Amino acid sequence: MNQCDLAGLGLDEGGHLLVARALDAVRPGERVAVTGSHPALGLHLAAWCREHGHRIACGAQPGGGILGRTAPATTVVIKGSAGERRWHGAQRAGVAAGPPAARASAAWGLAARGALVEAGGPPIGAQWSERDHVWADIAPQLYAAAAASQWDPATAVDWTASRAAQGVPPEVERAVVQLMTYLVENEQAALIIPARLLSQLHPHYREVMQLLASQSADEARHVEVFTRRALLSGGELGTSSAGGRASLQTLLDEPDFTTAAFLLSVLGEGTFLDLLRFIADHAPDQVTADVTRLAARDEARHVAFGVAHTAHLARADRHYLGTLRQAVERRHAALRDTAGLNAEVFDALVLLAAGSWSPGAIRRGWQAVRDLQDRMDEGRRRRLAAIGFPDDEAAELSALHTRNFM
Ligand SMILES: [Fe+2]
Ligand SMILES: [Fe+2]
Repeated sequence: MNQCDLAGLGLDEGGHLLVARALDAVRPGERVAVTGSHPALGLHLAAWCREHGHRIACGAQPGGGILGRTAPATTVVIKGSAGERRWHGAQRAGVAAGPPAARASAAWGLAARGALVEAGGPPIGAQWSERDHVWADIAPQLYAAAAASQWDPATAVDWTASRAAQGVPPEVERAVVQLMTYLVENEQAALIIPARLLSQLHPHYREVMQLLASQSADEARHVEVFTRRALLSGGELGTSSAGGRASLQTLLDEPDFTTAAFLLSVLGEGTFLDLLRFIADHAPDQVTADVTRLAARDEARHVAFGVAHTAHLARADRHYLGTLRQAVERRHAALRDTAGLNAEVFDALVLLAAGSWSPGAIRRGWQAVRDLQDRMDEGRRRRLAAIGFPDDEAAELSALHTRNFM
């Protein structure tokens, strides 16, 4: 018979851990002799055994059962089967160190990947529980890169350089404020979408969950730094156009995980990469250059996941390219009668690149924005080709992308 010596340790002082450990080593129906000198041991052991489905052997003298008694006594416990029954039907939530499962069971709920899941808990109501519909092999590395690249808006930007903004010609400053106003609106959409996808994702795909969380945190920083830059010169914010907001609303309304990631990250944020670099390159002050460069660095990760995930699903399901194509056409049709890009945003880009109102400068600014639009188009076609679209179709779809850039 297995022995368990508690010495003077009470069951209410952690002694139950030793008893449970001794019982773990035997099969149901087998016995463990529990010895101890704690005055309430017999009383506590009897109650504990009842609670956990074990029995005290008939005729056995409950040890230490007389209050005040300190001499060691032994109680024989017969192991019950409730513990075994509890884990009957339990299953592993995939493999901890391996790749995620092709399909995550709702019954796994919030259990860690690889955990032994007791049956009977509440199922998770996640909408996305199939690997191919959320996954990219690069997700773990992208999350690690995101965690290593977080920056603090308070220290990553020298806000005291606001003096620099005072040297910016007032009309160029107004152009910067208009661009920042537009960027904040777009960043807010870019924050809400990954947060919404995250809330419906099965946590079994934890690297994607972590990546979407860091993406939302990135966008929260972008909202902050663009707002701070807009307010730097102490004036009012710029305008928000109905057409721009209508364009963003179509992204918010997209219900499918991959289509939403495709429209937002591949086409929208991909286009934004060129936009942010353009603003950084033509920034009239250091703060504007810094905030747009920092945001562009984060956006590159968002785009990388969007492209990798969409390509992953397109490889697993060739018909999915048709679904994506329809999504672009549907969005184009929905926005056909809207203005798309806020005209004041377009003018602000021209003026930013021009730097002044002289006709020669405006001509250069205008041309710079046309070149920007060409680069945006090239980038979209390249990413669409990486996902699997033939070149001619990639060119066609790129041309249908919203005038609002995002
Ligand atoms: Fe952003
Ligand atoms: Fe983003």
